[in-house]
Amino acid sequence: MSFALDLLLLATGWTHVWLAPYTKVEESFNLHATHDVLSYGVAPDALHNYDHFVFSGVVPRTFIGSLILAWLSTPILHIASAFGFITSKLDIQIAVRLVLSSLNAFGLILLRRAVFKRFGRPTGLLFVLLTCSQSHVPFWMGRTLPNMFALFPVNLAFFLLNNRASNSLKPSTLSVHAAFSILTFTAVVFRSEVAILLAPLALQSLFLQHTRFLSLIKVGIISAIASIGTSMEPDYIFRSILNILLFVALTVLVDSYFWDQWPLWPEFNGLYFNVFQGKSAEWGVSPAHAYFSSHLPKLLLGSLPLSALGALLDARIRSLLIPCLAFIALISALGHKEWRFIVYAVPVFNIAAARGARWMVSRRKGRFFGRLLFLGATGIIAANLLVTVMYTRVSAANYPGGSALAVFNKRYADWEHVHVHISNLAAQTGASLFLQDHSPPHIALAHSASAPHHWVYNKTESLSPKAITASSQITHVIAEAGPESQKGYLKTGKWDIAFSIEGFSGWRFNLPWRGWRVNNKAKIYEWVSQGLGSVMEMDTREELWVLERT
Ligand SMILES: *[C@@H]1O[C@H](CO)[C@@H](O)[C@H](O)[C@H]1NC(C)=O
Repeated sequence: MSFALDLLLLATGWTHVWLAPYTKVEESFNLHATHDVLSYGVAPDALHNYDHFVFSGVVPRTFIGSLILAWLSTPILHIASAFGFITSKLDIQIAVRLVLSSLNAFGLILLRRAVFKRFGRPTGLLFVLLTCSQSHVPFWMGRTLPNMFALFPVNLAFFLLNNRASNSLKPSTLSVHAAFSILTFTAVVFRSEVAILLAPLALQSLFLQHTRFLSLIKVGIISAIASIGTSMEPDYIFRSILNILLFVALTVLVDSYFWDQWPLWPEFNGLYFNVFQGKSAEWGVSPAHAYFSSHLPKLLLGSLPLSALGALLDARIRSLLIPCLAFIALISALGHKEWRFIVYAVPVFNIAAARGARWMVSRRKGRFFGRLLFLGATGIIAANLLVTVMYTRVSAANYPGGSALAVFNKRYADWEHVHVHISNLAAQTGASLFLQDHSPPHIALAHSASAPHHWVYNKTESLSPKAITASSQITHVIAEAGPESQKGYLKTGKWDIAFSIEGFSGWRFNLPWRGWRVNNKAKIYEWVSQGLGSVMEMDTREELWVLERT
């Protein structure tokens, strides 16, 4: 069973990558950094090709995640291309995202093992079902957000802290030290908010040591002294400080090199600008309760009430949740709030929820109450799935820029010279460097069927339709659909619409019982055979026009 569950975690992440292969602007720094490492290498004379120098002015972020991802992907790309699975740059983007997704699935698999050990197999099974039925973590775990690079080491730390027998009171000293070392690394290198999670976890760990210390007094003064020797360990404090210095040195060395800026510690930079100078408020301020009232319910769906039940039933769950709740309460003090800042708490909440669900499904089913609880737990997972299907369909339809370029590259594959201007909307909704299939760098791994072309994918911003029409080297435009383009491009008579790309605009409900008669069997069959898809239909509208010069 454990193997099937691990496979389910892996397959869930992969399915989301395949359903929505394109990326948006918030993923683009790490995606493009990975692209640049893969295509140019890391030698000093290659760096001027990197996207962050070509389009300078972006906020510095660490290269370490992208470096690791590129290096992990390289052997896999070689094998996949030998078998003919990789024929375009888009295939490389998908492969890289699958590698990241697998890494995060591995983190969840480790947690699943810890849950098996500490809370029993049924709870582990429910942990996996709840995790896979949610929308956010499965959809995002294969997306190159900095937070998704941080999620794996955080899960690794939670694994180390929880991978122990059900009756053990605390993790081994070795595991605690390893877990805190990993969390420190994550906070220093990837995401500084992990420090806010680390603090309550460390306090809790000290407190646990403290209780052990008290109980040891009862056993004997001598062992108490021995325990001071092992738990206070000035040696450990010294080593922790050394750890921090080492991690800082690592990120400063690597990132100063890649950004050509000395000395640069990207996460500290971010912290300084966003928190101390209050710049994050410019991104928008949410009320103090937003994480609890809006972000957590969306991240957790049905796991939220179940985790409350789990906390009610089990003291181990309470001690697991308290540091996470403290983390979310502390980070609520920052005005700017996003779901991804607290995503690290989701797996822990799912463990708590699995414990609650476990209680619900294991009541005696002979009793009415027991059956009701069983139905309730399965109903919650089914409801999660329903929300996730809708969320994923909407999200997958929200990358018109990626879809447009993918179709564009295929349609004009025979053209020697193409100079396509990409509008802002298209650039932000999927037109990543990996979609510039017919222009350099020609990544050696993609065995393209056609000879390499030298197309120009022009992302120059704020050019008016008039200016674009006037510059005769531009052969194609990917423009935002609508009256503006109608006025700007089509009125000139110099452009034809080659094709258009649609995106999500809303849901339409086709209630099956409307026009339903008892004798209308055909209607029933139709409804059952088409499933829910026909009840809720997605409305789309034209988002982008691909224009060809007449
Ligand atoms: C993109 O188009 C503009 C307007 O014609 C032009 O000035 C610019 O040089 C082009 N960029 C590239 C990379 O060719």
